[in-house]
Amino acid sequence: MLFSLFLTLSALFVSALAAPLTTRQEKVSNVVCTGGNALDFHTVNVALLQICGGIAGSIQKCQGAPTSSTGTSGNVQFSIVPVEQSATINISKGRWEQGIKAAFAVCGLDKPFTATFVGGASTGDVNVELKQI
Ligand SMILES: *[C@@H]1O[C@H](CO)[C@@H](O)[C@H](O)[C@H]1NC(C)=O
Repeated sequence: MLFSLFLTLSALFVSALAAPLTTRQEKVSNVVCTGGNALDFHTVNVALLQICGGIAGSIQKCQGAPTSSTGTSGNVQFSIVPVEQSATINISKGRWEQGIKAAFAVCGLDKPFTATFVGGASTGDVNVELKQI
């Protein structure tokens, strides 16, 4: 009795620890670090919120179902294009920010990259690029 209570409690503890790692991580693939120096941290943060006409503040996802979109600030540009030609962009802010973080984890913070973010379109995945312009 006491033992099974212990098992239940440890299972709860383990799943509470595991959840943030397994469910909140956006999957990215095909990450290619395209070279160049790290871009300005603040400018990157502004540019990433300009995607889809702006996803700052209370806007929690890409608005308007565009077929492609760019987010630009200063010399920094993000772009999103669905992998499937007829698809539209349908990415949440959380997924967008996590995908960028995952690419930076591979290439280095604020370094230019191209990558595929899993999901993020009406059907299929999206190709994402961060570059200096
Ligand atoms: C966009 O995603 C949301 C939730 O992930 C879904 O409910 C909605 O149907 C999608 N819209 C399109 C146009 O695919």
